[in-house]
Amino acid sequence: MHPALQPIEFLIGTWTSESAVGHFPTINDFKYDETIYFEEIGQPLLNFKSISKIGERPMHLESGFLRILPGTSKVAFMVSHNFGLCSVEEGSVEGCNIVLESSGIQRISFAKDPMVTKIRRTITLLEDMKLEIKTDMATTNTPELTNHLIVIYKKNSS
Ligand code: HEM
Repeated sequence: MHPALQPIEFLIGTWTSESAVGHFPTINDFKYDETIYFEEIGQPLLNFKSISKIGERPMHLESGFLRILPGTSKVAFMVSHNFGLCSVEEGSVEGCNIVLESSGIQRISFAKDPMVTKIRRTITLLEDMKLEIKTDMATTNTPELTNHLIVIYKKNSS
């Protein structure tokens, strides 16, 4: 493992949701299933993948990289989303907590409205070694950062 990864080493592995719920003021609440992968490859970054489903139906897919600036707590998350967005999110890791806020979001010309204007993710390793990720977003219809997703994951045994 690259030594710079030590502050985010706790993420490495495959995590499966125990509970995953979605909300937003403009949509009905929903439950889903998600598996996320953080893989180390000897560089100061983790490869990332997320696959979410409702029943057997694939939903949101994400693929990207979580980079750390060696010797610091500064992290940057580059994510490509299947519904036509690429986000760059930056923040820091403090102990068991990582907070990332988008510094840029680019979208394809025919992505569905509303446009996502901000993403914030709060990633927390809980005391029972479960992982919680809260995702907040703002859109052109809902300009205040508002919760969209709360997920608790359990690490798969390897
Ligand atoms: C709706 C963005 C992750 C499921 C939406 C909407 C946006 C959005 C902009 C439309 C809201 C509106 O109409 O006002 C995002 C972003 C995500 C994300 C930026 C990640 C950072 C997910 C995930 C799921 C999901 C992981 C898992 C199933 C849904 C569903 C709806 C929705 C079911 C409502 C139905 C629909 O409009 O298609 N999301 N989403 N989203 N999202 Fe997400």
